[in-house]
Amino acid sequence: MRRMTWLAPVAALTLAACSGGDAASEADMAAANPCAANPCAANPCAGMDLPVDAIRQGDRELSDHGMSWDELAARGAELWNDKSLSGTGATSCSTCHSGDGTAMMNASFAEPYPHPVDMAKDRAGLETVTAAEMVQLCMAIPMAAEPLDYASAELAALTAQVQNLQGSFDASKAGGMNPCAANPCAANPCAANPCGADR
Ligand code: HEC
Repeated sequence: MRRMTWLAPVAALTLAACSGGDAASEADMAAANPCAANPCAANPCAGMDLPVDAIRQGDRELSDHGMSWDELAARGAELWNDKSLSGTGATSCSTCHSGDGTAMMNASFAEPYPHPVDMAKDRAGLETVTAAEMVQLCMAIPMAAEPLDYASAELAALTAQVQNLQGSFDASKAGGMNPCAANPCAANPCAANPCGADR
């Protein structure tokens, strides 16, 4: 039941993020707003199947698996393009985070971890995330896959890649990404959810 309380903030934030002004009333905004038809906002499954306990890092530490930082980051850069990590086998991190690897990332990425990220708050109820948690969130939501094992070399490597990207990230070039335009729910695990079939 607790998870159901996420739905209201998601809808409210989606409207707020996309309305961009002081429209006359919420009803008018909803009518005019392309986000009103957002499957993410309307979907009763939103957030319900997220394995938040597996995403949360807590006191779990990443092992370097005997690799140097450069080796870990190089492995992470390879995995960035690895479609087999996704639930469908058709998506890699670089599908969305293309170019230098930071496409679709918002200005929040420039802040030292842990920091707040809209997707983490809206979809998993996490107030702040670590770099590893952000990898896990993108695994679970846009990649539509299981979060990685916290003891895995894959998670350590992808986290190193994220930290490397962060070091060269120019926040002034951040997309100011409209959560509706490039909605992470485009690859929503709910699409294949039994609840989705009823729609
Ligand atoms: C279908 C698109 C999509 C895919 C695939 C994807 N992401 Fe993301 N990712 C997003 C979106 C959208 C955001 C912006 C979230 C926000 O700011 O609320 C984001 C943000 C991030 C951020 C920055 C968050 C911050 O601190 O501000 C990291 C790091 C990240 N993703 C890592 C990954 C990794 C690692 C993978 C592959 C395992 C991946 N992403 C795959 C859509 C995607």
